[in-house]
Amino acid sequence: MDKLIIEGGHPLNGSIRISGAKNAALPLMAATILAPGQHVLHNVPDLRDTRTMLLLLESFGITWQRRKKDNALLIDATNLDNFEASYDLVKTMRASVLVLGPLLARMGAARVSLPGGCAIGARPIDFHMQGLGRLGVELNLDQGYVEGRAEGGLQGGDVVFDIPSVTGTENILMAATLARGVTVIKNAAREPEIGNLVDMLNGMGAKIEGRGSDRLVIRGVDELHATEARVIPDRIETGTYLIAVAAVGGELTLTHCNPDHLASPLDKLRAIGLEIEKGDDQIKVARNGGLKSVDIKTMPYPGFPTDLQAQIMALMCISRGLSVITETIFENRFMHVAELKRMGADIKIDAKSAIVKGEAELSGAQVMATDLRASASLVIAGLAAAGETHISRVYHLDRGYDDLAGKLNRVGAVIRRIEE
Ligand code: EPU
Repeated sequence: MDKLIIEGGHPLNGSIRISGAKNAALPLMAATILAPGQHVLHNVPDLRDTRTMLLLLESFGITWQRRKKDNALLIDATNLDNFEASYDLVKTMRASVLVLGPLLARMGAARVSLPGGCAIGARPIDFHMQGLGRLGVELNLDQGYVEGRAEGGLQGGDVVFDIPSVTGTENILMAATLARGVTVIKNAAREPEIGNLVDMLNGMGAKIEGRGSDRLVIRGVDELHATEARVIPDRIETGTYLIAVAAVGGELTLTHCNPDHLASPLDKLRAIGLEIEKGDDQIKVARNGGLKSVDIKTMPYPGFPTDLQAQIMALMCISRGLSVITETIFENRFMHVAELKRMGADIKIDAKSAIVKGEAELSGAQVMATDLRASASLVIAGLAAAGETHISRVYHLDRGYDDLAGKLNRVGAVIRRIEE
C-alpha cells in the first residue's frame, strides 16, 4: 500500500488542468449499456473508480479501448451476455449500483450485489429500488444480491424521491428511457452530473425534459443508439485545489473547469478572503491576506457540496475565528476530524456539526485516510502544516483524483509517494 509524504509550507503557483468528473464519468459509462454500437466518451479521468466501472462493463460482455491521445474511451456495447454485477466489484465501489437501471432497461433483468457498509454513512439503495418498483420491476433480495425482473419490459410511472438522490435519479432516468409510456421524477437531484447524463441520453435518442430542474419527464422510446459524449469538468477536484491554495498560499489558475458549477464554494472562498477571478472555463485564485472563518452547511446542489466538506474543514482549522460546519447529507462524514486533531486542529463534534476553532498551528503527523474526500482534506492540512505529514491508505485518493500528487508538485508542492 502506498503512502504520501508531504513537506508542508510550499505555496502553490502556476496552473492546473482540471480532469473530467468522476461522478459524471461513472453514470455516462453505465449509460452505454443501454444501446448497442460503439460509444465515444471524451474527457474520462483515468481513476480507480472508472477502471472498476470498466471491469464491470467487461463482465457483462462489453468491450472497450482507451484512446490516450485525447483521453477518450471507446466502449462497444453491442454484445451484452450477462446481467450480474458481482460482490467483488461492487464492494470496491458503491457507484456500481448505477448499472442496475440500464441492465433492466436493455435486458429486462439484472442481478446486482448490494453494496456493503460505507465509511461515510449507511447509504442504503432503497430509493433506487422503490423507484424501479414504480416502473414495474419486480425486485427480490437473494444472498446479498438485488434481483430485478421486468417481464415484458419496463412501464413508465411517477417516482417521487423523499430526498433528492444523485445516483438514484440517474438510475431511474436510465431505466425510464426505454420504458413504455411516460415517467416523471419528482424531487430529482439537480447536480450538474445529472445534466451531463441527460445530454448523453438525449444524444442516444432518449426524450427527456426538465434538465437542471427537480422535475424530469422521460418519454420512453423503443430503442436507443450509440453516441458520443463529453464528461463535464470535475467541480470537486476544482474546489479541492481552490481550498489548497487558500490553505498554503500562492496564486493558481485552474483551467478546463466550469466556474458556474461552483457558485456556492466560490462565494464561501471569497468570504474567507481569497481573490477569485472567473473566466469561461477557468478560475484564477490568489491568497493575499489573512483567512476568515465562515460557517458551512452541506446541501444538495446548488448548495455547498458534501464532497468539499472535509477539505474546507482543513482550511477552517487555520482561519481566524470559529466555524460551524454542518453535514446534512451523510450521517458519518466526520472521519477526518480525529486525523486533523492529530495534526493540532481544535475541533469538537456536536451531533451533525463540527465546531472548528481557528488559528491552529498545524504540524505534520502520521495520519490515515478513511475515505476519498477525507484523504483530500488531510493532503490540504499537510500542505499547510509545519514539517512532514505521512498519509497512509492512499488508494482512497486514487479512487477519485487524477494524479493529485503530480498536479500539486508541478505547481510547487513537495509530495513524495512511497510504497509502505
Ligand atoms: N439515500 C437513501 N436511500 C437511497 C439513496 C440515498 O437514504 O436509496 C440517502 C443517502 O444515504 C444520503 C442521501 O440520501 O443520506 C443522498 O445520497 P445520494 O443518493 O445523493 O448519494 P449517492 O448518489 O450515493 C453521490 C456521489 C457522492 C456524493 C453524493 C451527494 C456519485 C457516484 N456519488 O452519491 O460522491 O457525496 O452523491 O452529493 O455520484 C464522492 O465522490 O466522494 C462521493 C461520495
